[in-house]
Amino acid sequence: MFITLEGPEGSGKTSHIPHLVEYLREKGYVVFPTREPGGTSISEQIRDTLHNLKNAEMHPRTETLLYQAARAQIVEQVIKPRLAAGEIVISDRYYDSTIAYQGYGHQQNLDQIRLLINYATGGLVPDLTILLDLDVEVGLKRKSNADEWNRLDAYTVEFHRRVRAGYLEMVKAEPKRWIMVDASQRWERVQENLREKILDKIGTK
Ligand code: TMP
Repeated sequence: MFITLEGPEGSGKTSHIPHLVEYLREKGYVVFPTREPGGTSISEQIRDTLHNLKNAEMHPRTETLLYQAARAQIVEQVIKPRLAAGEIVISDRYYDSTIAYQGYGHQQNLDQIRLLINYATGGLVPDLTILLDLDVEVGLKRKSNADEWNRLDAYTVEFHRRVRAGYLEMVKAEPKRWIMVDASQRWERVQENLREKILDKIGTK
């Protein structure tokens, strides 16, 4: 079972994942959390390059390719072997972030982006993808308060609005894979929603 969490900036994915992992482990599942970009030594090095505020001159195509390079490595080195061993892998972002940010955000050609993603992942599609949906301004404010500002956060509010709109279109286009959770609710309620939706998908053990 491969589960991915997606969402605009400040939607809280990262704070929810450790609690989800603990909950599922208590229920007896073997769970492996990871994040994108990152999760392997090579991918974390690429993450540093992508997020460094000094790299303001980075072209959207460079950005798109670097995300795919980081992804190819984690898919082969971590995700596929863990899935093959029967584990549940929960990833904080995966290829839908590329469609949302580089596709809708930077308005790069979506068909070309999908080809690159397919090359990078070898066609590995998540079983379940959860969108933590949140108003863009609220999310950016949360993130700036949390002191985790990176090069992508610094893109315009219009960019981030296109990202959110892109996610909402993706949910509509593939309703069997996607589930949406309202991330403006209080943290505990969001966590409960996430647990319910994941258990529904994997079945109680
Ligand atoms: P985060 O770890 O704080 O979510 O930061 C990851 C950033 O990278 C976030 O701004 C979204 C962005 N991103 C992309 O633009 N494309 C991608 O394919 C991925 C995985 C992330």
